[in-house]
Amino acid sequence: MASTGAATADAIEEEGVRRRDWIHIAAISAAGVGGVGTLFPLVSQMAPSADVLAESTTDVDVSAIQPGQSIKAVFRKQPLFVTRLTEEEIAAAKAEDAADMRDPQTLADRTNPTDESILVQLGVCTHLGCVPLGAGEGENKGEFGGYFCPCHGSHYDVAGRIRKGPAPTNLEVPEFEFTSESTIRVG
Ligand code: FES
Repeated sequence: MASTGAATADAIEEEGVRRRDWIHIAAISAAGVGGVGTLFPLVSQMAPSADVLAESTTDVDVSAIQPGQSIKAVFRKQPLFVTRLTEEEIAAAKAEDAADMRDPQTLADRTNPTDESILVQLGVCTHLGCVPLGAGEGENKGEFGGYFCPCHGSHYDVAGRIRKGPAPTNLEVPEFEFTSESTIRVG
């Protein structure tokens, strides 16, 4: 009987320890997030100067991006979309190469000859700078199957070319190169 009581007490104690651990971990996590918030102004003051930032590069591992998928990265403090086009998307983009466009560019103009399936673009609408939808799974891709900017309704095609709406130019393609089969260097 006494041992059952002791076992129960142990169980309660153990549960209590688990709970305290969890609360402790949760508190550390919250403190961590708060820490980032409070650290930011300091880090911000130590941020690289504009000329250093303008020369910075971003390496992206593209090996895990499946056809039809995009990843969102950051390049020079701006959102960067890196997409692996499917065969169908490549064919669709090429079929539109000669279409009447506001900012005419072929898919080849917008990709690297090493691998035309990898599309690298700034995720910045060329109208007033909103982040277009379309790179994330399930996001609205607009009327041309690429990207849709919800701010004022710009539609880009699967190659990021402006097809409808107020944006004046295609999504910007930054300079990039393949540094290996699996990695690109942007900038
Ligand atoms: S900022 Fe994208 S349509 Fe205006």
